[in-house]
Amino acid sequence: MSIFMAHVVIFVLQIVQLVICIFIVLDFYGSMKLRVPYLSVRKHVLLHLYREFNFSSESVVYDLGAGHGRVLSYLKKLSPTITAVGVEFAPLPWFIGTMRQFFSQKEQRITLLYGDAQKVLLTPATHVFMYLSQKLTNKLAEKCVKELKPGTVVITCDFFIENKEPIKVVDCSVPTERLGRKLYVYQY
Ligand SMILES: C[S@@+](CC[C@H](N)C(=O)[O-])C[C@H]1O[C@@H](n2cnc3c(N)ncnc32)[C@H](O)[C@@H]1O
Repeated sequence: MSIFMAHVVIFVLQIVQLVICIFIVLDFYGSMKLRVPYLSVRKHVLLHLYREFNFSSESVVYDLGAGHGRVLSYLKKLSPTITAVGVEFAPLPWFIGTMRQFFSQKEQRITLLYGDAQKVLLTPATHVFMYLSQKLTNKLAEKCVKELKPGTVVITCDFFIENKEPIKVVDCSVPTERLGRKLYVYQY
């Protein structure tokens, strides 16, 4: 390899390193600011969630705090006709999720919006999922009251909406897992 090529390779590697560092810093900043870490809902919860949502072909499901879109990709795989929209504020999971969409089959693609779920209009949703924190769940519940259409189903995992009675609480607990114990099902 010529000296010129070696310099080009080193330059490219340094750029890659820089991009990775920027993502790590942004991600750390995002987690500190949001106080909700990226943690995907446990596998054993997913089928319960799918059953409770009971989609029709025209359903529009939002995951508020979607991470890299794992939940939505799972739901879309089982019901390909639904529209799936995720909102994610942390750059790293959002970037990974967006790249995944780029390489996934067209009929299994979801939309992953980058931004604060508190600023996204929820009017199109027929189904909403949240796996966040107790505080943010309650904040977003206020937004749900204002924006969701009557009949919209909201499901929260582990954290519940403090001033609303769930129509159902699903016990998903398994002996080996401390997380993903309950799904709270609400109807607006
Ligand atoms: C516990 S994870 C759940 C991820 C995904 N829903 C799942 O179950 O696989 C919560 C995610 O919400 C994101 N988040 C927290 N606050 C947010 C906000 N205000 N707007 C958008 N995303 C947010 C975090 O960055 C994190 O990725």
